[in-house]
Amino acid sequence: MSLRQIENRIIELRELIKKYDYHYYVLSEALISDFEYDSLYAELVKLEKENPVFVTFDSPTQRLSSDLTGGFPPVSHKYQMLSLSNTYNEGELLDFARRVRDGLPELEIPEYVVEYKIDGLSVSLIYENGVFVKAATRGDGLIGEDVTTNVKTIKSIPLSVEGGGNFEVRGEIYMEKEVFEKLNLRRAERGEKLFANPRNVASGTLKLLDPKQVSQRPLQIYVYSLLGESNADTQWSALQILKDKKFRVNNYSKLCNSMVEVIELLSEFEEKRDELPYEVDGVVIKVNSFRQQNLLGNVAKSPRWATAFKFKAKKAQTKLLQITWQVGRTGAVTPVAELEPVFLAGSTISRATLHNFDEIKRKDIRTGDTVLIEKGGDVIPKVTGVNNPEGYIRNEEEKILENCPVCNSKLTNPVNEVALYCENYDCPAQVKGRIEHFASRGAMDIEGLGSAIVDLFVDLGYLKNYADIYDLQKIASELKKIERFGEKSIDNLLAGIEKSKQKPFSKVLFALGIRYVGAGVAQKLAAHFGNIEKLISATEEEIGSVYEIGPSISNSVVNFFKDEHNITAVERLKAAGLIFTGEKTEVEDNFFKGKTFVLTGTLSTMSRDEAAEKIINLGGKTSSSVSKNTGYVIAGESAGSKLDKANQLGVKILTEAEFIKLLPE
Ligand code: IVH
Repeated sequence: MSLRQIENRIIELRELIKKYDYHYYVLSEALISDFEYDSLYAELVKLEKENPVFVTFDSPTQRLSSDLTGGFPPVSHKYQMLSLSNTYNEGELLDFARRVRDGLPELEIPEYVVEYKIDGLSVSLIYENGVFVKAATRGDGLIGEDVTTNVKTIKSIPLSVEGGGNFEVRGEIYMEKEVFEKLNLRRAERGEKLFANPRNVASGTLKLLDPKQVSQRPLQIYVYSLLGESNADTQWSALQILKDKKFRVNNYSKLCNSMVEVIELLSEFEEKRDELPYEVDGVVIKVNSFRQQNLLGNVAKSPRWATAFKFKAKKAQTKLLQITWQVGRTGAVTPVAELEPVFLAGSTISRATLHNFDEIKRKDIRTGDTVLIEKGGDVIPKVTGVNNPEGYIRNEEEKILENCPVCNSKLTNPVNEVALYCENYDCPAQVKGRIEHFASRGAMDIEGLGSAIVDLFVDLGYLKNYADIYDLQKIASELKKIERFGEKSIDNLLAGIEKSKQKPFSKVLFALGIRYVGAGVAQKLAAHFGNIEKLISATEEEIGSVYEIGPSISNSVVNFFKDEHNITAVERLKAAGLIFTGEKTEVEDNFFKGKTFVLTGTLSTMSRDEAAEKIINLGGKTSSSVSKNTGYVIAGESAGSKLDKANQLGVKILTEAEFIKLLPE
């Protein structure tokens, strides 16, 4: 073949594959067999490899690149990614419609578009001159993460569109129920931990560092909004334009003349729900006209022109085979219902939480009973009641558990608490739970140290404490002798451990597993105290004065550091080189630096959280209660008792406008 012929063949192959991808992944119709498709693809790969000058950015082969060394850098959203208010019944929908009418000029009757609310995660796809250049997660709505490399593997997303243009497309990435079930089946066979639901896998998959692995966990997308350059003046026309541009748009969407019409359609949407190959948790109802949407605007983080109508929780009934007790990382022992497997809302359920013993008593749930289970908006199914057939003779009432099912030590039941606790710090279940949490994604994110490996290493005596993780490299040669592991996997694990040493203070603090200290609280504490020493020596009162940190958190933090085990662990982690300082950066002198502020009432231009963040970033402190140490109270609308207290104590008061004036440009 001449060079010219090669180029032509490459162009032809590209176009063919693009066409087959579109038909298969967007329109759900296969035009050729898998074998034919694979042959064409292989031919293109080969020709491009031999003639790299002819590779274009939008060649189908470019969906799989290997470059994720940079991780997932932050992306500022050009248009904020909003969330939706929820409605649960007709009354609330009519209220919503009334607020819409109130926000529009008289006599303007809004039309509505109804779309399925796909249960996945939202992404923004950015196109420049018609070329797909970037994909970002929602993040906090203002700043998301760059997941371009992984999103590119989704074959229904066009890498380029005809007609060019600079625009942003938003949609929901999800995993089909069947793909999810198969994936879990494979994991079960390999003894790996199962994924909770398709949404979790979809979001986990987008964060994998290996795009090849991503492409093996096929994800899908439905797009639902178009921003930037476009001719659309309504949501309905935007959906049409998106279809014309060959994006994948859900076909069930409907245009309605009134809210009454919307309500009439809801049962149809809800009935079809189970037939869909993907999970939906409701419908989204949007004002059709963009002009009207703009007139209505947003409240805080959600638009006034749209709302989500949530479907009722899915129910099923099945037999309760047994109640088992699970010991968590904090020692809390909780009952779990082991059920005869039953299919409910997209997945097979064989376990459900029973919360605590009081709950079992209250609902009088007994082994052998036919129980009702429910899967609500959240993922963990729960047992909601008993429904035994007539004439069924029940087993004895359940008895409270006395000893830890794992280490057999006596359980305690602290006053005012419903939970039972195993107080044995060395209980293997707690040890495993603490280490698993430490290594988990939101914490130190140690690749290769999942629950199966943690269990094994604890059982073999290599890990007793999370600080032991950083000593593993000393026994690398021994680890490499363990059956099931190769040299390579141990090397990878050790590399993952080494890499985790760069995690910032807030992640390390979260990883310690202090009761009630979630990722968000850890961030607030890290920002406020700046290093671990200050936090360790802080009193309950000092911790409680941090904005939005309540008494149970401050009590738990102080107790945690009273425990010698924990202090020793922190010392060892420090010696291993983990970061226990640093998020507090020196700020230049300004009005806020060093002063304490109390926020009260509703602010009109930002949320209290946002205001608090600004103050903290400027070196100020925030507190939830007014005292003589309070520098200023910032009072929004309908401020109540805190404002009175400030007046009593003679604390200076700032209005929202004054506060904003004091903020630097
Ligand atoms: S519209 C302001 N349409 O639901 C507009 N969202 O709580 C917000 N979602 O973050 C998005 N299907 O992840 C819209 N057809 C749909 C949707 C949808 C699913 C998700 C999306 C969003 C969340 C809103």
